[in-house]
Amino acid sequence: MLSDLERVTLIRQYGQPYDVFVETGTAGGFTVIRLVNDFKRLVTIELDYDRYVVVAAREFMLQNTNILPLFGDSTRVLPEVLSFLNESAVFWLDAHYVGSGVRGEVDSPADTELEMILKWSKNNGLDCAVLIDDARFFGHDPGWPTMFRLERLAKDYDRQFVLQDDVIRVT
Ligand SMILES: C[S@@+](CC[C@H](N)C(=O)[O-])C[C@H]1O[C@@H](n2cnc3c(N)ncnc32)[C@H](O)[C@@H]1O
Repeated sequence: MLSDLERVTLIRQYGQPYDVFVETGTAGGFTVIRLVNDFKRLVTIELDYDRYVVVAAREFMLQNTNILPLFGDSTRVLPEVLSFLNESAVFWLDAHYVGSGVRGEVDSPADTELEMILKWSKNNGLDCAVLIDDARFFGHDPGWPTMFRLERLAKDYDRQFVLQDDVIRVT
């Protein structure tokens, strides 16, 4: 499990070529807040309305209009984001049930999200890097996709799949 600083450092490293950062699973919004000056636009999606409202109403968000907090299930909201996204981006997939709050149809939609992103990238000829957090749960917890499924998706789209420090990196 990465520390806050390690997480942000990793995203900066992979996100360096890109102006856009997209996150699924906002929680307290700490990752977008820390990265506000690293990207021109940041989008973050949260399923739990109470969590979303707390983040969206923060003075920080009102002052930093390059961050767009969105409410809803990432499997429904991400396709909308991708439909208007016409530049390459780094994605941080971190939407999953955390044992409290609203529970989605599946505990981790990471495979659905990854497939949407890789399809969008291929169809639009746009580059992307996808980082998927909490790799230790994949294939262990019910409701989470297997590591094999995620790796298969990456390979189907001719992508590199690397697992290191609890984060899957699809590039
Ligand atoms: C581990 S936390 C995210 C942490 C945050 N990315 C950060 O770096 O601070 C996971 C969040 O994903 C949310 N979540 C769960 N399922 C989701 C879904 N299908 N779509 C969007 N968000 C979801 C949870 O409500 C929770 O707030």
